[in-house]
Amino acid sequence: MYISHIKLQNFRNYKKLSLDLNSNINIFYGDNGQGKTNVIEAVFLCGMGKSFRTNKEQELIRLEENFSEVEVEFQKKDREGVIRIVLEKKKAIFLNGVKIKKLSDLLGKINLVIFSPDDLEILKEGPSKRRRFLDMMIGQLRPNYIHCLNLYLKTLEQRNNYLKQIRFESKQENMLEIWDEKLAEYAEKIVAYRIEFMQKIKEKLNTIHQDITEEKETLEIEYHTDAKTKEEFFRLLKQNHRLDMLKGYTTKGVHRDDFTIFINGRQVNIYGSQGQNRTVVLSLKLTELKIIEEEIGEEPILLLDDFMSELDEKRRNRLLQVMRNTQVLITCTDPLELRNVSSNLFKVENGEIKNKEAF
Ligand SMILES: Nc1ncnc2c1ncn2[C@@H]1O[C@H](COP(=O)(O)OP(=O)(O)OP(=O)(O)O)[C@@H](O)[C@H]1O
Ligand SMILES: [Mg+2]
Repeated sequence: MYISHIKLQNFRNYKKLSLDLNSNINIFYGDNGQGKTNVIEAVFLCGMGKSFRTNKEQELIRLEENFSEVEVEFQKKDREGVIRIVLEKKKAIFLNGVKIKKLSDLLGKINLVIFSPDDLEILKEGPSKRRRFLDMMIGQLRPNYIHCLNLYLKTLEQRNNYLKQIRFESKQENMLEIWDEKLAEYAEKIVAYRIEFMQKIKEKLNTIHQDITEEKETLEIEYHTDAKTKEEFFRLLKQNHRLDMLKGYTTKGVHRDDFTIFINGRQVNIYGSQGQNRTVVLSLKLTELKIIEEEIGEEPILLLDDFMSELDEKRRNRLLQVMRNTQVLITCTDPLELRNVSSNLFKVENGEIKNKEAF
């Protein structure tokens, strides 16, 4: 699939922008702070309904303005569509002119995989980054997953509040089971989705990694969760009432899930070099891309924010050769010289896209 046109109004440092995109490679280059990532952010917003950089949506509205509008036209194999997002005091999302009611109705309309410098944190930082990686992939393919996850997180918050009330307001402990029951029910569903997708990752990750590194490193991935079935979760939550009351939060559940990646049997975030960590994240992202492609029957859009500068020319060209049928949006500080690929080059300067050249 690809995005054919993008329109911005009062979005970040753009006053107005209207841009046709190439269905293959689009390169946005320019100095720091000019608005390259802002374009990627706008596309991401239309796909996922939120930014990958901030939870505060007011930040997206151009300073001194009171609304912002982003519109993208997309083409899929069997249909086309327009997504428009208006940010004012609240956010309104429109699909083909019709306002959508819940975020899960938007997910999956535009399929995308993003690669930004922050993604190196997937391996290096705590488990929440890894869960986010899974959530982003599964969410756009199984909107019901996000629905379950939101219910889970809401219930978790209520349970945590109640734990504090037991401690400080002497509320009854046995009422906790009401939350346990609900949490366990949602957890079972969430884990089932995560297991399904972990299996898909397992099937592809190692081959993809060997392909891009041309090395004989073996990658393995291991998923960790506290339990699998509703009954197991319920039992576990019940067993930990005392500890949870003491801590004031829920110590067991899918909000603690994690995965570990091993290179030749050793944990990559501990033993791997910087370059190995970076390449493993790339392999993970390309695995995500392949999984989405198999599921929807066409390639998702790839957003590469500041990523190409991290790769040597050989790996860069290799990557783009593999992306022949993929729409790629790339940001970088210098215009990239690419051979044998169809591409558009956009110069970004102070919230304007100055010259456009097509090759
Ligand atoms: N709400 C806003 N209103 C106006 N300008 C904004 C707003 N939010 C961010 N900016 C401006 O947008 C610019 C940053 O844009 P962006 O992150 O796209 O830069 P970039 O070209 O990707 O730079 P780099 O190469 O450093 O990554 C900054 O100049 C910032 O001041
Ligand atoms: Mg940037």
